[in-house]
Amino acid sequence: MSNPSILILPGDGIGPEVMAEVRKIIDWYGAKRDLVFDVSEDLVGGCAYDKHGTPLHDDTMAKAQEVDAVLLGAVGGPKYDALDFSVKPERGLLRLRKEMDLYSNLRPAQCFDALADFSSLKKDVVAGLDIMIVRELTSGIYFGEPRGIFKEGNERVGINTQRYTESEIERVARSAFELARRRNNKVCSMEKANVMESGILWREVVQKVHDTEYPDVELSHMYADAGAMQLCRWPKQFDVIVTDNLFGDLLSDAAAMLTGSLGMLPSASLGAPMANGRPKALYEPVHGSAPDIAGQGKANPIACILSFAMALRYSFDNGAEADRLEKAIETVLANGARTADLLGEDGVTPLSTSEMGDAILAALDASL
Ligand code: IPM
Ligand code: MG
Repeated sequence: MSNPSILILPGDGIGPEVMAEVRKIIDWYGAKRDLVFDVSEDLVGGCAYDKHGTPLHDDTMAKAQEVDAVLLGAVGGPKYDALDFSVKPERGLLRLRKEMDLYSNLRPAQCFDALADFSSLKKDVVAGLDIMIVRELTSGIYFGEPRGIFKEGNERVGINTQRYTESEIERVARSAFELARRRNNKVCSMEKANVMESGILWREVVQKVHDTEYPDVELSHMYADAGAMQLCRWPKQFDVIVTDNLFGDLLSDAAAMLTGSLGMLPSASLGAPMANGRPKALYEPVHGSAPDIAGQGKANPIACILSFAMALRYSFDNGAEADRLEKAIETVLANGARTADLLGEDGVTPLSTSEMGDAILAALDASL
């Protein structure tokens, strides 16, 4: 059997720096655990625009459809702010999500014990936090038609459309219930059924999927604004949160910050199973391209490395090695290793991006 394949798309800003550390980890698995991957690399985002005039070349799109998993760094930067909307770096990422039909976006917010002091919330509110936001990723207001900026009388009007079909809601709900069964068996669904018809349908369909297929899972519903408030008040009440594309974008950034640093959080975007049984999948850190610190070796590679751990778990069915990698990161943090985004304690000198990568490799070695 051939080796599993990974397409690496480092992207822009700090993307290439953090991805270089992921490559070291991938190589470690080949050398020390006999887990060899066929790795190829390509461009996405602003760098793809610079070379090809498009943020995602058709050949890259085709490659992404063929591999077992895509790992993406980050896209965007001020250099591209003035570009036409249709070729902005973000369009490359959105095209990948849409054409690979990655409808289920898993965004865990987990607070490592060693970092509980970094949260803006009180330590007892976040210590031990472990929640999973499941964000619908291929529909809703990000993609609904009509959309655009139109002339109406003597002024312009900007239009986007929130649109969800029953089947789109059903499939993401199923993915949330499946995850909950492997966790603490609780799902909270968030929408705004009080003001949006799409929210009414969302609530009905999630309830129906629950009643007919997952009656054993505890289900609750919350308006998304109240959900945002509850996330800040007492996040540990949640296990799995399932929500639409836009609410999920907002709620996952808020949840991420509870854990102390956006530099820590991975994500998995999953679609339907391919012929080999693996889901279509793209893994990326939740953080952006951070152009202000790009190229300085200051970025925290942990979110991107944890994204590879998610790939081990969800694409390569290797929970044991995913656990090993997550444990190595926990150890390194417990021993006091910090990148610049995690400073705050007196007298701690920050590690560079590659020093953090090396520390994680050393912890992996020690785990053998
Ligand atoms: C995210 C980002 C993206 C989104 C951008 C970069 C298009 O904010 O993944 O959360 O809005 O989905
Ligand atoms: Mg976002």
